[in-house]
Amino acid sequence: MDAKVTAIVLAAGAGTRMRSERAKVLHELGGRSMLGHALAAVRELGVDRRVIVVGHQRDQVETAATALDPDALIAVQHERKGTGDAVRAGLDALPDGTDPGTVLITYGDVPLLAADTLGAVLAEHRSGSRAVTVLSAEVGDPTGYGRILRDEHGAVTAIREHKDASEAERSVREINSGILAVDGAFLDRALDRLTPQNAQGELYLTDIVGFAVADGLPVGAHVLEDVWQTEGVNDRAQLARLARELNDRITRHWMLAGVTIIDPATTWIDSDVTLAPDVTIRPGTQLLGATTVAGGATIGPDTTLRNVEIGQGATVERAHGSDAVIAAGATVGPFAYLRPGTELGANGKIGAFVETKNAQIGEGAKVPHLSYIGDAEIGEGSNIGAGTITANYDGERKHRTVIGRHAKTGSDNVFVAPVEIGDGAFTGAGTIVREDIPPGALAVSAGGQRIMDGWVARRRPGSVAHEAAENAAQQEENSQ
Ligand code: UD1
Ligand code: CA
Repeated sequence: MDAKVTAIVLAAGAGTRMRSERAKVLHELGGRSMLGHALAAVRELGVDRRVIVVGHQRDQVETAATALDPDALIAVQHERKGTGDAVRAGLDALPDGTDPGTVLITYGDVPLLAADTLGAVLAEHRSGSRAVTVLSAEVGDPTGYGRILRDEHGAVTAIREHKDASEAERSVREINSGILAVDGAFLDRALDRLTPQNAQGELYLTDIVGFAVADGLPVGAHVLEDVWQTEGVNDRAQLARLARELNDRITRHWMLAGVTIIDPATTWIDSDVTLAPDVTIRPGTQLLGATTVAGGATIGPDTTLRNVEIGQGATVERAHGSDAVIAAGATVGPFAYLRPGTELGANGKIGAFVETKNAQIGEGAKVPHLSYIGDAEIGEGSNIGAGTITANYDGERKHRTVIGRHAKTGSDNVFVAPVEIGDGAFTGAGTIVREDIPPGALAVSAGGQRIMDGWVARRRPGSVAHEAAENAAQQEENSQ
């Protein structure tokens, strides 16, 4: 962006109708807070100077704002005296003597507003050399919004707040989205002229439009067809509506980019997820956070993945995972739980009813059934028997299990960590591994099997088991 622009993001409002301990702008949709969406839009547009106006629930909002955008300036609005006062606080936060250039005012609670819409407002503002350009929209029910008033030639003359509007003015369906571009020098002077002589006793930012018209300065409105982008959130029902709409936009975007989504209605994809062409997503899948999926991978059904990296051609079915890596060609599930630090190598397998945590599972290695693998390393090509537990916790500390390459461990093993199993080693079924196993060795710990003949006849006489045993003995005798 060449010409100077300052973005002021208003986020000082109370948000009472959310009925929440959490500040309104910090409620989330698409994996980001509303404030996160607002900041992403101005950043994507390339606005270098950003001011976030905080006030209500200030500590929470300020902490989040600083984390989201460390380069932004924070302005504090001490009393909630209206949008004009909030913008004044924003301007005052600029270092003394800064020329703000064009000021772009946006709201922290309008999450669907896109960067290219802001770009269009700025472009129209500049090409018309205007003092003010408002982003407006025609809506079905304009109740509550400020109305765009126009003269008989269609020129914008003022914005009238709903509570101050006459019956005739209330019939206008073109509303002020609240987003506007203003010449910085004009804004600075206009804000000084605001008075709270209105129905709400507030300093209305919107009054500056009337001032510009009175001064003979050019003003105008950029009318947006896509009304969703101008919609603010006041309660959780609206938040859910916008979250659904955002999700529809995200799933549509990925489908047009070559991703097969079998059921967009039950597929939820966060804003920061990236998908390659020819990924397939089955119903009931949530891809969250910074999850990335490479081409040819199939995810779902009924899978939730947060911050998971999935390689080319991998398959993940009915699984729950976070902060994990699934390499190319690997298979996961059904019914697998991948906790943070799981790294499954290429063509590896984490099968049914397997839980993993902080586990590096090598290329082609397999944990196919009913196991817990935590704080462990499994070398390439090794196969872990069904029902294996890495006993990683001694009640005080966590310990590691290290299994080498091409090892084959039996069913129902317990690895009592810390323990190391060498390359190419084997273990028998039911082995409790308490000591290291050298490469190429077989370890068994289950005792030899003892047979006590006639135990059922002596200890369970008359039972159905006794009867079954007697019948078997009889048949054996008859066959001889
Ligand atoms: C405002 C506009 C209205 C527009 C509507 C769109 C004014 C006077 N009115 O009305 O024309 O149709 O938005 O949603 O501008 N805020 C502060 N400090 C304040 C007051 C508000 O930071 O003292 C912030 C809020 O957090 C919010 C935004 O400004 O993000 C709008 O405030 P809100 O009270 O929702 O304005 P409305 O009365 O809805
Ligand atoms: Ca509002």
